[in-house]
Amino acid sequence: MTIQEIYDLAIEMGMSADPRGSVTVKKLLEKAKEEYKDLSEKKKKFFDKENFVNPYTDSRILYGDPKKEVKRLMAGIDADVADLLLADRLTQKGKEIDMVVSHHPSGHALASLHEVMDVQVDMYAQAGVPVNVAHSLFEERKSKVKRGISPLNHSQGVDAARLLEIPFLVIHTIWDNLGNNFMKEYLDKKSFETVGEILDYINEIPEFTEAIYGKAGPSIVAGSEKMRAGKIVVSFTGGTNPSKELYTEMAKAGVGTLIEMHVPEDAVQELKKLHINVIDTGHMAADSIGANIFLDAIEKQGVEVVPCSGLIRVVRK
Ligand SMILES: [Fe+2]
Ligand SMILES: [Fe+2]
Repeated sequence: MTIQEIYDLAIEMGMSADPRGSVTVKKLLEKAKEEYKDLSEKKKKFFDKENFVNPYTDSRILYGDPKKEVKRLMAGIDADVADLLLADRLTQKGKEIDMVVSHHPSGHALASLHEVMDVQVDMYAQAGVPVNVAHSLFEERKSKVKRGISPLNHSQGVDAARLLEIPFLVIHTIWDNLGNNFMKEYLDKKSFETVGEILDYINEIPEFTEAIYGKAGPSIVAGSEKMRAGKIVVSFTGGTNPSKELYTEMAKAGVGTLIEMHVPEDAVQELKKLHINVIDTGHMAADSIGANIFLDAIEKQGVEVVPCSGLIRVVRK
């Protein structure tokens, strides 16, 4: 596959697994085109035209010729400078690496992370939070996330990729959509009386089983095994965590158990007060699920995958 084909497949898979539904997401692409048309020439210069075809600003080709053929790639959760050096070292040793793929973004894909958070407005609306409340809370949260990220040095990875001439791709929300969808469908197959039953069932997913051996498996961070499960909500996608205030709204909406990849401490304290159970699945294992679904798809097309940087590689038949 070429870099472009890998990237296009990622966009396609991300859109069909998007919690908003692919029809809604396709409309966003049209909206971007409309928005561009109405801009002044001065502003058009700075508009990211990739938004016409890819609704995920945190998933982009950061370096490399899209026409380049990829036979073997290295894929990781936090692939960055060190992993690009590793790729170069492996190539030197005779195991040629044609591209590095990271889940967590860097470069402009990190600087624009807040832009993908809109997906969560719909996710929490589906969970019962009034859409206007979710929307308003996410506008606040997005500007906070943006301010938090903006002072960081985003470009180190991209600079290293350019110096070593190794193609560098980041796929963030796309993989999270795939993981989120997988978890929702997996949990929908069964009904649960208690939080402990959910935990046992989640632990059977091979990525989590593997993480348990590494002492980083799922755990209950609010509530306990014996607590009644209530309505289950999976929150595996949408850039990063929502605000503490949104969790309060979830309590009002009747959410019983929340399944998260990671939860900030202030949110855990809040959720405990609200009697919402929370299963923290462990971050790397959870991110690995979406990654694996995608990597299986490209392996089927002949691309060899070398896992790195925290990725727990599981191949599904
Ligand atoms: Fe993720
Ligand atoms: Fe993550």
